[in-house]
Order: sequence, then C-alpha cells, then structure tokens
Amino acid sequence: MLVLGINCAYHESAACLLRNGEIVAAVEEERFNRRKRAKASLVSNADELPSAAIAWCFEVASKQLGKEIDWSSIDHVGFSMLPEERFRRNTEHAHPYSPNAGDFGTVEGETDFRDRCLAVRENVSALGFGGSFHYISHHLCHAASAFHASPFEDAAVLVVDGIAEFASTTAYHGRGAALEQLWSVDYPHSLGFLWEKMAKFLGFSEYDACKVMGLASYGDPVAYAPHFARFVQTENGFRIDDGVVRFRNGSFRGLEEIFGVRKRNAPVSSYTKETEPYADIAAALQQMTEEILLDLAKRLRVETGSRCLGLAGGVALNCVANGRIAAESGFDRVFVQPASHDAGTSIGAALAIWHDRLAKPRRPVSASPYTGPAFTNEEIRDALDACEFSFEKIEDITSHVADLLADGAIVAWFQGHMEFGPRALGNRSLLADPRRESVRDILNDKVKHREPFRPFCPSVLVEKAGAWFDIEPQSGGPEYYMLRAVDAREGVRDRIPAVVHIDGTCRIQTVDRTMNPRYHELISKFEERTGVPVLLNTSFNDSEPIVCTPQNAIETFRKTRIDWLVLGDYCVSRNAREPA
Ligand SMILES: [Fe+2]
Repeated sequence: MLVLGINCAYHESAACLLRNGEIVAAVEEERFNRRKRAKASLVSNADELPSAAIAWCFEVASKQLGKEIDWSSIDHVGFSMLPEERFRRNTEHAHPYSPNAGDFGTVEGETDFRDRCLAVRENVSALGFGGSFHYISHHLCHAASAFHASPFEDAAVLVVDGIAEFASTTAYHGRGAALEQLWSVDYPHSLGFLWEKMAKFLGFSEYDACKVMGLASYGDPVAYAPHFARFVQTENGFRIDDGVVRFRNGSFRGLEEIFGVRKRNAPVSSYTKETEPYADIAAALQQMTEEILLDLAKRLRVETGSRCLGLAGGVALNCVANGRIAAESGFDRVFVQPASHDAGTSIGAALAIWHDRLAKPRRPVSASPYTGPAFTNEEIRDALDACEFSFEKIEDITSHVADLLADGAIVAWFQGHMEFGPRALGNRSLLADPRRESVRDILNDKVKHREPFRPFCPSVLVEKAGAWFDIEPQSGGPEYYMLRAVDAREGVRDRIPAVVHIDGTCRIQTVDRTMNPRYHELISKFEERTGVPVLLNTSFNDSEPIVCTPQNAIETFRKTRIDWLVLGDYCVSRNAREPA
C-alpha cells in the first residue's frame, strides 16, 4: 500500500512516500525549486503542490518496485491542514486591531486560503489520483512525525509552532499506535509567532530565529525580562497580549513602547555597543522561551507518567531550549523530529494515515534523516565531465579528505542520500578543522557570509562525545540531528575554538557508525591525524537551499571559494581542466 504525505499549506513544502508503513522517500521541495522554504506562506498559494518532491518520491518507488509509479498508484494522500477548521476558528476570532487587508485573519484571506486547500483534492484527482484523500490536523501531523518516527512505545508529545489551524501548541500522549490529544494553546498565544515578530523587531526576517538564538548568547537576559513580563504571562502555560504584539499587522508600535527602543530597519550584523540592547532583548526572549517550554514539558511528564518525550513544530528547532529540556525536564529520553518545521508534517501526514486512519500497528521506523536523493559515482562523473574543473577519482577518499582537513582546507562533502530537515548532517556539508579559530572567518569570507555572532557546529564521533561535551549521548537523541546545545567540557574550548559559542556551548551532532558509516570513517581518520574526533560541519550552501544534485554542488563550488569539492569518490580542485 502506498501512502503519500504532502505539506504545502503554508511553507516548507515537502512530500513523503510510505510503502506498507515504511518511509520510501521524503524530501523538501526547496531542494529542487531552489527557493528557500519552497514558497512564501500566503493565503493564495496553498494549492502549490511540491510537484518535484512528489515526482522524485514516485521515481524512487518506481525503481524499488520495478514498475511505473504515478498518481494512479497511490492509495491514500494526506494533507497537513484542516481547511474548514482553520476557516471557522480564525474568522470567529476578534482581533484587537485590524489584520492586514486580505491576509490571514480576515474573512477574505481565510476564504482564499480555505478554497486553495480544498482545491488540492480536486487537483490531485485531475492528475490521476483515485484513492482516499485525507485532510489531517496540522498538529497531529507534527505529533505523528515526532512519535511514530521515534523508538518510543509510550511517550508524551509536545508540538510548538506558529499556528496550526488555530492552535499554536498541542500536547499528546502516544501509546502504541495511538496519539491522544491532551490539551492545546490557541492563537494568539503563540511562541512561534512571537519569535517571528521579534526577529523582525531585531531587523531580521521572520525566518531568522536561528540568528536571534545565536545573538541571544551575547546578551544579558536580565535587563529586558521585566519588559517581556508586561505582555507575556508565563504562569500555568503562557498567554501573549496580541494588543501589544499585533501578530497580524505590520505595526511594531506596542513593542517599541514596551522595550523603549525602535524596531531595527537593518539586521543586527555584529555585537557592538549600539546593538547591545537588541542582544539583551534576544537573550530575554530565549530565556523566557526556555522556561516556558521546560514548564510545559515538566507538566506533560506528570500528566502522562511517560519516561519519554517527542518534540516537533518549528520551535523544537531551538537547540538551546532542547538542551535544557533533555537535561532538566525529568524525561529519561527525548526525540526531536529532525524536520520539526512544517516539512516534517509530510512524514506525519503519511504516518497519521497509516496508524490513525488505517489503525495499522507500530513497527520500528528508521529515524534516519538521510531520506533524500542520492547519486551514483557514474552520475557524478557525468556531471563532472560537463564542468570546467579538474577532478580525480580517489581510492581512499576518507583518508585523502582527512589529510586535506587537517591541513586547514575547507571541503565541500557531498555523499549518499540528502538529509531531510534544515540541518546538514554529513551528506551535504561543508567541513573544516575545528582546531583553527580563524576557520570561522575564512568560512564566512569564502562561502557562508554569516553574521559573526552565529556559531558553527561540531560533528563528533558518538562514542567520544561524552569525553568532549557535557552529555551522555542516547541513541536517536536530539544530538543525533544537531538539535541540542551542550557545554564543552573543561579544557576542550581551547582545543576546538572554531565550534564553541561565546557562552561555552556547542550545538553538537553525534555521528553514529550505523547511521552514517562514511562520515564516521572520515571523522575517525581526522582523529587519527589530529587526536580530535570532531569536525566543523555547516550546511553546503551559500544563501540558497542546501545543494541537492551534483550540478547544484558544482554551481555553489563555482560561485564561492571553497578549497575542495568532494562528490562520492571524486575530489574536485579549483584548477581548470586540461582540454581533452
Ligand atoms: Fe507547523
């Protein structure tokens, strides 16, 4: 039986194909259409299907099954939104101000959004789909992606994002194949929306939560905590005064009055005396968020009695908060869906159909994030033959690259199946030697062009992680997906300065031999040369989506000044190739 999960209601469009309950393929549309998040979240584009992602899922299934798979082969389609529910709840809500005309929150905007979502059912029928179409609660999809993809039989599940249909936060108890909803927090009380609005207040885009989190480590949370307390109530959950924040119109007047500083028109680009208040505001926001999430998690621990917790929703990408939840909430084990943002609801929609609608029992589901396209050495060779760079096939590629890295090179590392989710986890990564502090500036100069206050992250061999960082790694824990910040151990800071943040924390990825053997081998060989079982790992892109194909990789190599490009067993240099 083939079940296709689709996310395209808001943004981060993606598709996931299940065959008899197992993930055949899952991929984000942005990796194909080369637009970050695939599309903007508008009332007018919820019917823009992730067509390339779906086509690729069909291609993988066709190869696996040895026959042509297309829309007519699919038994069930899940779409991660309940359009009528969204329409009813949002049009009933009275805002204390006028939402932007024609946009979300207005009758006109909500009507457009609902109709676009409802059109998807017709559109896929027109493409040949003849099975059952399911509109599924957005948060149930997030929860299914965190619970059914986890190794847990019994777990509390917490979903935190901007908005689903109307809820911003929903708690579930997962047992066996069933997910029971416990409670929810509704709009406008939304941590996801608060982060979007505050990111804009600091001059960033609404999608720059990771920049706010990086900046927060430079600030003092104490100075602006009382200011937040004036419009965010944090006892027994959380409540946000939308009259101040005004989520659904462009005004920042209420926030400016409370904080006593103007909204920035340009992003904070560095930490200076002038930007200090904004770093302090970021720090207060981060600390308040951690406290709220920690309280919610502790509450769920009591309510469910479960020893395990699953997290999903865009806010679950906050690795600093995840670090505190893993360490302080009282749960023995925590799983964070690596694609916690909306892309992950494609996995959840498919799994929710399989378990919730079809009542199929749980079975071990791979939590591997490597569910995207892969390319053979022959396909890579064809792409290289068509480019201008000189290249060589290397017999022992991991030894060769370990030498390059130990010598200080920046290497683009392209291997195997692409990651699903926003983090590059060693298959579409830029790698460097973490012992060299200067490598951060070199990376920013040659490729990444990131703000200096944003940290670079380490990948560490899982069996060595406890010696280097304050952590006892758990199989499949958030540290597997670079979604947990931990302290570097005493004496480590000086040995790997390029990957330790200003506050002494590291957003680590533990690398497991089973999950990614080649990356594990590379880091092991780097350790043989240097005594350090750690590499700096950042995503292989400049400002575009992470590279997907060998052609994307060559293009990014061409427009940046990365020293070496390694694709499969091929090592590409910046030198022009001799004419044949
Ligand atoms: Fe979401």
